[in-house]
Amino acid sequence: MDRTATGDPAATFERLARATEPPRLAPDLAATLLTPALLIDLDRVRANAARALELCGGPGRWRPHVKTAKVPAVQVELARAGVRRFKCATTRELAVLLAALARDGVEDVDVLVAYPHAGPALGRIAALARAHPRAAVSLLVEDGASVGEVPAEVGIFLDVNGGMDRTGRPVADRAALLDAARAAGARLRGVHAYDGHRHEPDRGERERLVHAGLDPVVELCAALAAAGAPAGEVVTSGTPGFRAALSWPGWTALPEGWAHRVSPGTVVYHDLRSEELDPGGGFAPAALVLSRAVSRPRAGRVTLDAGSKALAAEAGEPCALVAGRPGLVPRTPSEEHLPVDVVAGEPPARGELLALVPRHVCPTVNLAEEAVLLEGGAPVAVAGVGARAHELGAPALPRLGELDALPPPSGGAAP
Ligand SMILES: Cc1ncc(COP(=O)(O)O)c(C=O)c1O
Repeated sequence: MDRTATGDPAATFERLARATEPPRLAPDLAATLLTPALLIDLDRVRANAARALELCGGPGRWRPHVKTAKVPAVQVELARAGVRRFKCATTRELAVLLAALARDGVEDVDVLVAYPHAGPALGRIAALARAHPRAAVSLLVEDGASVGEVPAEVGIFLDVNGGMDRTGRPVADRAALLDAARAAGARLRGVHAYDGHRHEPDRGERERLVHAGLDPVVELCAALAAAGAPAGEVVTSGTPGFRAALSWPGWTALPEGWAHRVSPGTVVYHDLRSEELDPGGGFAPAALVLSRAVSRPRAGRVTLDAGSKALAAEAGEPCALVAGRPGLVPRTPSEEHLPVDVVAGEPPARGELLALVPRHVCPTVNLAEEAVLLEGGAPVAVAGVGARAHELGAPALPRLGELDALPPPSGGAAP
């Protein structure tokens, strides 16, 4: 493989559009299924998980982030493939993951809530840890003071800011990190050094920069070991950086008993953006948005019914490609409309079903309440996207039913 090639986005678009087979929908289902509809191809999920495991050399080195795999049936597929360590961000992701795996008989999981939660989320995480006593649940901290906020049943990872400038303590701030480790004591589980800012299009350049960021992380682990911290785990890298992190020769300098794991999550569904960054990497789009052509506003233009309320549009253009139709080029969506330029081939007929591969699959999945699951290329079930959106917890407020309104304010003016 050419490690330094910079992907050509237009060529990637064309190749992936050609290579992605649209789903087969039986006529009775096509006649009843409303669009836009999220489709999840479980065979491709299984193949993507197998590919990730192959690249990682087995489940021991993969801690997938389930911000992408928000459907319990998909989380269970990962566990059935042997994965026992996960990452999540939200309390709902933690709740759904633990419950879904327990229901499938898997209790001995290890979930890092890779987010520096504050406030009542800490109590919610502790309650979930108590409800799943065989699961190891841990959280990020970035200084000694916040260690005291972390409930006793929750483990601690030190969060290192390696240049993304989003969370964590700069890795050079060794004294603060050692102080946090001292405060954590035996609850220290390891170091979290996510390098999500490394998405250089040139793979050689990206690899060089990922490697350069890992040196100080391993030095920190050595300092922790020298200070008597328990042997732990270094968690790095999402989809753009994990191959580079895996290939870094410097891991041999980790102190005795320490392990390195990577945490790509997008790989489970794959998307156009990931394919651009690592063309031909062996992953296939597993989550598609089914849409219908609804309008022909002018020659050369057709509009589909999947706008930015069904298809994430924050990651650049085109926000999607059309499976099997490289001659259709999506343009900027509005909320319920996706204008598409017909640059080659026949325009789709009004009502024709088209399957879209999103540029950014994670927020796309979060937009759907339910998904149609496919096996053997055909629909087999409908599943809830259980871990989508956010929980409110149990605020001391009356909860209205779905169609309820508040009673009119007493003494208010009549309409
Ligand atoms: C902390 C953290 N870890 C891992 C990931 C997974 O990265 P990716 O979506 O590139 O697979 C993310 C993605 O947002 C993240 O924020």
